[in-house]
Amino acid sequence: MTNQNKQGFIDALVGLQWGDEGKGKNIDELLLSGDYSGVARFQGGANAGHTLKFGDIEFIGHIVPSGCLHENIELYIGNGVVVDVVSLVKEIKQLKDIGFDVIPRLYISNRAKLVSYLHPFLDQAEEYYRSRDGEKIGTTARGIGPAYSDSRARRGLLVGDVLLSDFEEKEKNLSELHMNFLEMYKKEYGFEISIEKINEAKILWNKALKELREMQICDLSYLINKRLSEGKNILAEGAQGVMLDIDFGDYPNVTSSNTMPSNLCLGLGISHRFIRDIYGVIKAYTTKVGGGDFPARIKEENIEQLFQKAGNEFGATTGRPRMCGWLDLFALDYAIKLSGTNKIFINKADICPTDKIKVVTGYKCGEKILEEFPFRLSTVTSVVTEDLSGWGNANYSVSEKNSVSKELSDYLNYIKNKLKDNVDIVSVGTGPDRKHSFNWDK
Ligand code: IMP
Repeated sequence: MTNQNKQGFIDALVGLQWGDEGKGKNIDELLLSGDYSGVARFQGGANAGHTLKFGDIEFIGHIVPSGCLHENIELYIGNGVVVDVVSLVKEIKQLKDIGFDVIPRLYISNRAKLVSYLHPFLDQAEEYYRSRDGEKIGTTARGIGPAYSDSRARRGLLVGDVLLSDFEEKEKNLSELHMNFLEMYKKEYGFEISIEKINEAKILWNKALKELREMQICDLSYLINKRLSEGKNILAEGAQGVMLDIDFGDYPNVTSSNTMPSNLCLGLGISHRFIRDIYGVIKAYTTKVGGGDFPARIKEENIEQLFQKAGNEFGATTGRPRMCGWLDLFALDYAIKLSGTNKIFINKADICPTDKIKVVTGYKCGEKILEEFPFRLSTVTSVVTEDLSGWGNANYSVSEKNSVSKELSDYLNYIKNKLKDNVDIVSVGTGPDRKHSFNWDK
């Protein structure tokens, strides 16, 4: 939408839990309003997994922004993103095969970080190293940590570099360093990766780079600012979730970027003055993949499995089963405060495979109920919970507020009343399809 004689705005949509909240569906819902002309990724990389579904079409994206199934929406990959070019090319092809040619509307920042073909191997090597002490993070093995490490060490490759004459030399130097690291992991710690695998990855990467050179690599900060000055509105799409933020999550069991909406200014190159609403996304329960503590985890294995099965809680990127927990309001208050969320989406509200449910309302360290969210979750010894009634599968595909079962209705009111900050529940999801949701607070 264009506002005549008016500057545009940026809204952000971020996950408020440990990722996998189903953000792709909510991006889709917001785009249907017609308010936005573009969707921008500002952090993370192909570690994300967004499942988009409408009618017969299903697309799982990792790096292409979620607006890809909307013909007139521009897609932006910001400087804060680590770009896995092999995934990018693969997704562009998959989209083309289902009738969406995104190339003409995809813009990539020349300052975005390039994930090299050796980064995923370094990711694996680092995980192997950590696993010796049982401290695995359980990364997605997409090379995210090593790519951000190279960026911060000021030796990484930028997407714009692929168009410069010294790219080959820069790439050779960096790869040499990476190979030395891999050699060290082999010699000192016994982590081995075959040269065939490395060569295979290199061929695929170089092939993908050729295609990248044909894409619209640009000064994205300039372009987005231009769009805003034309009165166009942009939706910034967070990947992962606030609880995986590198500074405010449970370090080191976090991803390597800041997942907060405050990072969208730095990850896109725009001023905070343009930010309007912050949409936070949660599921009606909680999930987590990877290492580290998870205080809200459901203790009874059979009940956890019921949630896993009913919610299809298996990673879109790695296929790993996700741990399932009760809705964690203590973590949610923390995430809402830090992110400045003023509107929330509640997804998978149809999923409730038990008669009774619990909600986590506090964390304890010994007998002490914590006031502040702990910087290390390993210090939490137990949680405070409240019991509520479940609703079985009575709400699948419900698309009107009036048709919601009493138990779910009570649950939504309970959440709203318990949250410390005043947020609107804008929409509640009851299934994977576009049609499966209803408005709550309006
Ligand atoms: P990395 O981002 O691949 O380095 O993984 C670091 C941690 O973040 C691991 O625990 C991953 O499981 C988790 N993680 C990364 N991306 C996602 C996501 O999109 N959803 C859920 N967890 C994620």
